[in-house]
Amino acid sequence: DTSKLWGGRFTEATDQFVQQFTASVGFDQRLAREDIRGSLAHAEMLSATGILSEEELAHIRQGMATIEQEIAAGNFRWSAELEDVHMNIEARLTELIGITGKKLHTGRSRNDQVATDIRLHLRSAIDLIGVELTRLQKGTIALAAANCDTIMPGFTHLQTAQPVVFGHHLLAWNEMLERDHGRLMDCRKRLNQSPLGAAALAGTTYPIDRHRTAAALGFDRPTENSLDSVSDRDFAIEFCAFAALLMTHLSRIAEELVLWTSAQFNFIELPDRFCTGSSIMPQKKNPDVPELVRGKVGRVNGHLVCLLTLMKSQPLAYNKDNQEDKEPLFDTIDTVLGSLRAFADMVPAVRPKTEPMREAARRGFSTATDLADYLVRKGLPFRDAHEVVGKAVAHGVASGEDLAEMSLPTLQGFCAAIGSDVYEVLTLEGSVAARDHLGGTAPLQVAAAAERALARIMER
Ligand code: ARG
Repeated sequence: DTSKLWGGRFTEATDQFVQQFTASVGFDQRLAREDIRGSLAHAEMLSATGILSEEELAHIRQGMATIEQEIAAGNFRWSAELEDVHMNIEARLTELIGITGKKLHTGRSRNDQVATDIRLHLRSAIDLIGVELTRLQKGTIALAAANCDTIMPGFTHLQTAQPVVFGHHLLAWNEMLERDHGRLMDCRKRLNQSPLGAAALAGTTYPIDRHRTAAALGFDRPTENSLDSVSDRDFAIEFCAFAALLMTHLSRIAEELVLWTSAQFNFIELPDRFCTGSSIMPQKKNPDVPELVRGKVGRVNGHLVCLLTLMKSQPLAYNKDNQEDKEPLFDTIDTVLGSLRAFADMVPAVRPKTEPMREAARRGFSTATDLADYLVRKGLPFRDAHEVVGKAVAHGVASGEDLAEMSLPTLQGFCAAIGSDVYEVLTLEGSVAARDHLGGTAPLQVAAAAERALARIMER
């Protein structure tokens, strides 16, 4: 049949396969709430400007209320024949209220309609993500504040480098997440403009009020250019770029959690509720949640590349290509929300195993730099001090002793300037406490940093 909403100029029915192939209702029905919200704002504006009567507006409101109920109750009949969420809802409205339903689309196109729907949907998603991200940050900071003097080895190249406190390590995670939050808010700011009124591409001949619909939908202002409004999806790409970075950070955290739960590190205990067992090996407790989050970075990175590629070389204005924006965007939202939720629940429940952490820091010559700094204070140039300590470490590697375990005569054999006060700098506590400046790992600095981190969040 040629009975489509746009069927006027057609002389034959759409090919069956083409109908299926071009339909988006299977996935864009997720935009139903935003679609109705946008339609109501549009209809209200049409009535305020005299394009629709107040009675017609009342009918549209009634019809939409019924449709919302039907969708919520799960008995709205979605039809692929009606292609997408917009035409499904409009057709049902006309079924319900008759001729007035056909007037709703006055001064509007699906092109500005869908651009509005996606922005509204993404904006709500961003707000939910912001809440979960904040929850994760608060949990991380609280754990940090409780571990300002829990000593662990710090690493470079995953080789023991210098002792740090666990709280300092956790606050490093928080800094990554803090920047992610900033990027999320930047993205929200730029997307929060209303494309409604751009119509198909050039605007409309009706005396519409774009400021009115923008305000009704909580947008900061209407978009500036109608061609741009219906065509660009850079806001979705920007969100996916935020998501890719966030997931990258979560994967780094995940990787450390996985390493730390291993018998070889034995730094932390993950509560059983975040782990699963093996169907064959009875002893196993696997850190599935961090592993899964680490793995999910793949799909989010994929979606970013997908959207960039989708947008690339598209001529102005709207092209059907853009229908392909939804599935990657929705999956990115779901993946980010799920991963954040899992981490916000799990991270605060991480229990550090303070003795093994400390023991690991004690081994591995983590205070070698402190010894070099000590020699500098005794008058050696740093490069010579480095050389002396290197020799002492080589001796320790061969003899199986750590620096603090070597006798004073042994140490003096490497450099006569070494005195009995050397053992103070070779202690782990002395080492971390000495890094006493903004951004350093001294326990007092870390405690202050945790307070500042929390205060920053409270100011949001
Ligand atoms: N389903 C379409 C999309 O997702 C809505 C806009 C379609 N506009 C059009 N002229 N075909 O992008």
